[in-house]
Parts: sequence; structure tokens; C-alpha cells
Amino acid sequence: MKVRFAVLVCLIAGGLVLGCKHPPGTPPPTSGTGTPGDTSGSGGNDTSLCFERDVLPIFVSGCSRSGCHDAASHQEGYVLTSYATIVSRGLVAGNANASELYEVLIEDRPEKRMPQPPNPPLSIEQIAIIKRWIDEGAKNGTNCGTKCNDSVYSYTAAIVPLTKTYCNGCHNSASPSGGVILDGYAGVKIVADNGKLVGAVKRLAGYSPMPQGGNKLSDCNISQIEKWVQAGAPNN
Ligand code: HEC
Repeated sequence: MKVRFAVLVCLIAGGLVLGCKHPPGTPPPTSGTGTPGDTSGSGGNDTSLCFERDVLPIFVSGCSRSGCHDAASHQEGYVLTSYATIVSRGLVAGNANASELYEVLIEDRPEKRMPQPPNPPLSIEQIAIIKRWIDEGAKNGTNCGTKCNDSVYSYTAAIVPLTKTYCNGCHNSASPSGGVILDGYAGVKIVADNGKLVGAVKRLAGYSPMPQGGNKLSDCNISQIEKWVQAGAPNN
């Protein structure tokens, strides 16, 4: 199957209005449902989808960086930082293919794709989660419970899925916020060693609270990060 990438617009030039008039009905990138969001250490057994845990972090990381769809910038009127603002525009509950919010993710034309280049498109898995969430009625879900298990804290099993879900939309190598690159071991190792990774996710005084604009990570996710850093932040 031809995989189509694309996503939600971060218009760089203020005032640039690109009418998003792509026809509805564009085929989805995958027919599967995708394993929801943060699977760090879970083995991916739980396939239930819960907004706050599985969907919101994708919008926060992928779309709400400064200058894009945060409350201050709200490009094209989209603010993608909370349930209320996400469902208020471009979304037809129960029908992803009729929802502009989904359409832009699978848009072929780079100038209309979201997130906009140079940011990478959302992953196939993330796009599938958003499609499924909209198709299932775009329900709100809070206090979702966690799939995290902090006895698992290796780089591959815990840190990679966690940063993919919560951080890489802003901290990717193509366009790293604050110069911090978290989509590869070398970059994560730097902030692990200099204390900024733990300081930022624990929201300690003197560090910028991360994920920016999002909820604090769960205690379990923070514990995974701390254990991994204490073990010397190995590439394991
Ligand atoms: C919506 C965008 C966004 C998301 C999501 C995000 N960050 Fe950041 N991050 C930034 C920006 C912008 C800066 C630089 C400005 C600042 O320090 O506030 C930054 C700075 C940092 C720093 C340096 C902090 C310091 O005090 O020097 C670290 C470490 C960091 N981020 C880690 C993370 C981690 C880990 C995640 C995911 C759990 C994450 N960020 C998610 C935007 C984001």
C-alpha cells in the first residue's frame, strides 16, 4: 500500500492563509487501528484508546509548538492544546475522513501537510490513533490509567516510545526546540548527562517544565527516566 504522510499546519509566515479545501474521503494511511500512544514498558497489550493519555500528547507534541497551534499563536484559528479547543474546529465526530483535522495529516502536498516541514510528519501509528479516536466519536477521556511499567527502563523499551509520544514533535533533529534533540540516542544522552532531562520532566526549579504546554508526565514515566539516567543512560 502506498503510505501517505502528512499533517497539521504550522504556518510560519503570519497572515499566510492556505485554504484547506482538500476533498474528503482521502484513504487512510493504514487500515489497522494502531497501538495507542505511550506503550513504554507495556508490551502493547492494552489496545483501549483514552484521549488524555493517547491522543492529547500527539497534538501537544506535534502541533502546539510555539508559532504553530499553541494558545498564543493559534494559526488558522486552531489551538491544539486541550480537549475543548481540539474538538471545536475541523472535526466531525465519528468521521475522520470528513474532518479537516485528520485530512491535513495525510495530505500529499507538503505546503498543506501538518505538521509543516521541516517538521517530520506524524508517524503512521500516531495518524492511525487520531483516525481511530475521531471515528470512535472523538470522546473526551481523562484519568485514563497508565500502561507504563517502571521496572522497564531501557532506552529502547521505555525512553524511545516515551519521547516519540511526548517530545519529538518539538525536539526532532530537523527543527529542535531549544537546540534539544530527542529523536536519537546521542541527543537524549546529552540532556540525560547534564541533568536537564530529569530537571525538565520533574519540573524542578531552574529548568523549563516539559513537555511544554502539556500535562506533567506520569510518575511512572518520570521514574523510568530517572532510573535510566541513574543507570548511566545506556544505549540499551
Ligand atoms: C510543544 C513543544 C515542546 C514539547 C512537546 C516538549 N518540549 Fe522541551 N522544550 C521546548 C522548548 C521551546 C524549549 C526551549 C525553551 C525552554 O527551555 O523553555 C525546550 C527545552 C527543553 C529542555 C531544556 C530545558 C532547560 O531547562 O534547559 C529539555 C531537557 C527538554 N525541553 C526536554 C523535553 C522532554 C523530555 C519533552 C517530552 C517529555 C519535551 N521537552 C517536550 C518545547 C517543547
